[in-house]
Parts: sequence; structure tokens; C-alpha cells
Amino acid sequence: MKVLGIAGSPRRNGNTEILLDEALKGARDSGCEVAKLVINELKIAPCQECGGCEETGVCTVKDDMQKIFEEISKADYIFLASPIFFGSLTAQVKTMIDRFQGWWVARYILKKPHVKEEKNGFFICVGGQERPDFFNNAKMIIKNFFATASIEYVGEFYYPKINEKGEVKKHPTALEDIYNVGKNLCIGRKN
Ligand SMILES: Cc1cc2nc3c(=O)[nH]c(=O)nc-3n(C[C@H](O)[C@H](O)[C@H](O)COP(=O)(O)O)c2cc1C
Repeated sequence: MKVLGIAGSPRRNGNTEILLDEALKGARDSGCEVAKLVINELKIAPCQECGGCEETGVCTVKDDMQKIFEEISKADYIFLASPIFFGSLTAQVKTMIDRFQGWWVARYILKKPHVKEEKNGFFICVGGQERPDFFNNAKMIIKNFFATASIEYVGEFYYPKINEKGEVKKHPTALEDIYNVGKNLCIGRKN
């Protein structure tokens, strides 16, 4: 089983990336094949609404999105990690999501989705404030994206009131909880 982690924060080794790394560590420890992408380290242009994908479902802008399309296509399970920024996802994550418009066209207009098998997806989120409404807003966007990319939304962790870089390490259960999500993915599986 192939597990992909997508880090959506611009802050390297910040709270969401710490949680993501724990999830991937658990997955690796249970025998999953693991890959990780850090969106902020890739060159991804915002969707230009050029219409280039309307006939084919394929984005015509050539940049590092190709890598993301490839890795998501290969993965069976995806952890997507984003902090809350202004009540929503980071610009990095939203920019990536908008570039899936071609996949939306392929799935809903052309009725030929890019991937046939349903994948599973898990949303990891951290916010500085206690704002469940902000989390629900971010979650709605992730669910919409997952549906477009044939990813079933199978789970989530939201940790509020965590602000400083690395502060999530002080949480009594967060690291262990997310490690166990990863750890339970491949136990007893042969592939
Ligand atoms: C530009 C910016 C906007 C933010 N907006 C919110 C917000 O609307 N609500 C919230 O709860 N936290 C907000 N935060 C706080 C972050 O979600 C919080 O610091 C989080 O721990 C960062 O995770 P990271 O270390 O993975 O980047 C914001 C932080 C930044 C830098």
C-alpha cells in the first residue's frame, strides 16, 4: 500500500508537518510504502482559468503540479496537512487544489475520471484559535477536493489553540494518536 503525505504549511517542521511526519512514520513502521511532498517547495502556479482543461480534463500548465498529479495517482492513502490560515486552508493548499480543475472536468463533465480506484484520505489540521467553524470551512474544501480526486474522506484530526512552532509536541496525545493512524494502515497487509 502506498501512502502519500502532503505538507501544506509554508513553515517547515511546524505543527502540521510534525503531525504529518508522525503519521508517515507510523505508516512506514507498519510496512507501507511512503512518499511525502511539501507544496511550498514546489513551483505551482495558481489556476489561470485558461480553459485549457475543458476539452480534455488535462491541465495545460506545465510546472511541478505534474509531480503532485503523479504521486496522488499512485497513492492508495493520502494524508493532507494544513494549518488554518484566515479561517481556511493555506494559500499553498488552495493553489494546489484549484489546479485539480482538470480532474473535476474529467470526472463530472467528461465522465472519465483520471483514477479508477477510490483512494482514502485523512485531513490533519491545526489552528491557533479554538474555532470549529474555521475548521469546518477548511474541511468542506478538503472534502470537495477529495471527491474530485476520487479520495474518500476517512478521517480527520483538528488540534486548536496551537500556535508556536513545534507547540504540538506538548500536546498530551496528538503525536501518539496520529502515529497510530499511520501504524494501523498496513499491519497485516501483504501489499
Ligand atoms: C497568515 C496566518 C493566518 C492564520 N489564521 C488563523 C486563523 O484564522 N485561525 C486560527 O485558528 N489560526 C490561524 N493561524 C495560526 C496557525 O493556524 C497556527 O499557528 C498553526 O499552529 C500553524 O501551523 P504550522 O506550524 O503547521 O504552520 C494563522 C497563522 C498565520 C501565519
